[in-house]
Amino acid sequence: MIDITTIKFGVLADTFHAPKKGEIEFLADCLILIDESGDIAAKLTAQDTGYAESLNTLRENQRLTVVEKGQFLLPGMVDLHCHAPQWPQAGKGLDLPLYDWLQNYTFPLENRFGDLAFAEPVYRDVAQTLLANGTTSAVYFASIHREASELLAKTSLSLGQRAFVGKINMDNPEQCPDYYREPSVEDAIADTELFIQNVRGLKGNCHGLVKPVITPRFVPSCTKTLLGELGKLVQAYDVHMQTHCSESDWARDYAIQHFGKSDIETYAESGLLNNKSVLAHSIFLTERDVAMMKEFDAGIGHCPLSNMYFANAAMHTRELLDSGVNIGLGSDIAGAPSPSIFRAAFDAVSHSRVREEGVDTRLPAGARGVSGSRVSFLEAFWMATAGGGRVLNEKIGLFENGYHFDALVIKPSALGNLRVWPDMDTPRDILEKIVSLAQSCDIDSVWVQGKKVR
Ligand code: GUN
Ligand code: FE
Repeated sequence: MIDITTIKFGVLADTFHAPKKGEIEFLADCLILIDESGDIAAKLTAQDTGYAESLNTLRENQRLTVVEKGQFLLPGMVDLHCHAPQWPQAGKGLDLPLYDWLQNYTFPLENRFGDLAFAEPVYRDVAQTLLANGTTSAVYFASIHREASELLAKTSLSLGQRAFVGKINMDNPEQCPDYYREPSVEDAIADTELFIQNVRGLKGNCHGLVKPVITPRFVPSCTKTLLGELGKLVQAYDVHMQTHCSESDWARDYAIQHFGKSDIETYAESGLLNNKSVLAHSIFLTERDVAMMKEFDAGIGHCPLSNMYFANAAMHTRELLDSGVNIGLGSDIAGAPSPSIFRAAFDAVSHSRVREEGVDTRLPAGARGVSGSRVSFLEAFWMATAGGGRVLNEKIGLFENGYHFDALVIKPSALGNLRVWPDMDTPRDILEKIVSLAQSCDIDSVWVQGKKVR
């Protein structure tokens, strides 16, 4: 029995979530009970015992939020890969290959974040924009600057967004410009250790809403010594880790040429992989790489739109989903311009469909693509929510007892393009339309850890 006195509030809504990869659960008039700490205490539907009593008590005590018919409750979106300081760069320079884009656009911009007065409005805006797009959990790369990275953590916390924030580490003089590089491995490690402690100790961060992430930029920008020292911090602090992995031909070849190993092998050998590592992109994985990821229970942040610009190849999303490796979605701002994980989910489907059908019209239909490699809208929705939560090893992305109440309401707006026809659309149709068409104007209330943040 539920002790209703321990419940902070309830939400009554037509609810979607995806407990199983490739399936959705639609729960009409679902009552979700949220406890004082913002976690889900119970999820009830009309046939469950205690449903009517709980509903009546909460209604009498004015602790019930009713989501109107025609609107839908969804778990909040999880963005596994976003470069917060690149937000002003979104939509610029995407005609360049990765190396030139980094050197000409990204590094000069990121370097400006040493100035907190420059950083503050950008960080506020990117976190607000992600929240407006329904992203309740964001995994951020900041810049190499410790204080500005702490400012990003503080900003997310003050806006109520769940955030995983990394101070970037990069020290290879052959790849990093003199003006944007760690002064030494010792300095980088001391700063990163202080960063972990300061983020964990942020005032008001008692629930761990904001967490530090060890963040070597990628293999080319780090010396082996730095990777190994960062690996020691991962082990000592049992902390999240994020990096780029085998993102393009050039990035993949760099590791092979310099270390005689793949990115995954290099990270594993450096002690960087754990059960909450986010390996962004992961395009050119060998079977051995995938096996190693599974062994460490590490996960992939799939960034389909960015892949179309920088990857030089299509993601093996179908095979990776089937392999059982942990996988979720990332925006990769500004390697792709969209701050929406709904958009990333739609792009994951489109990306897989181009791969399935192929592109060369001179070839016969059966020889053009990789047959059977499509990803469904429901799988994409799973990656955007529960899949992302699993990569992070956090209780997010699902409406289950003990999970954090991170949620959003879809309210189709006349200003946008999402239309639901109650007589014609099944729950599955509605979910597919949401993935395809939802924009920020269609996102009404947003909660993180049981707190309304929009
Ligand atoms: N590889 C190394 N740094 C970056 C970055 O900032 N964005 C992307 N997309 N790839 C990278
Ligand atoms: Fe990236």
